[in-house]
Amino acid sequence: VADDELTAADRDLVAAARGVSGRAYVPASGFAVGCAVRTGSGRTFVGCNVENASYGLTICAERAAITAAVAAEGPRPLITAVAVHTDSATCSPCGACRQVIAELGPEAVVVYRRDGRFVRRSIAELLPDAFTFPG
Ligand code: THU
Repeated sequence: VADDELTAADRDLVAAARGVSGRAYVPASGFAVGCAVRTGSGRTFVGCNVENASYGLTICAERAAITAAVAAEGPRPLITAVAVHTDSATCSPCGACRQVIAELGPEAVVVYRRDGRFVRRSIAELLPDAFTFPG
């Protein structure tokens, strides 16, 4: 969808994601990412990617934002919406972040740019048949 087809709430979330992307720590990739998540309480939490000289320790913006939400509110209320911002034309959440979104926001809608246009996808579309705690 085009920018102007996003809901006002989506646009607010994207703006929050864009804002926090400016604080990303990206000495390895130069690829700054910001994420904003909304929870069932209506509050918004943000996170950015934080890289490390030991590359595998990098945390993505999405998991940073979800961690902030849980630290503030606990694991409930669940995540209802996620927005991702980068300055590039495309940035969809990585597989690891999809798994984390699915667990703490199984009904979440995820907004990100693909080829310069926003897409709005349910987490179930992005990660069908997600693994969950057995039983
Ligand atoms: N990254 C995110 O923070 N979120 C995404 O959705 C994709 C990738 C980060 C990880 C790494 O710091 C940089 O982007 C390049 O992969």
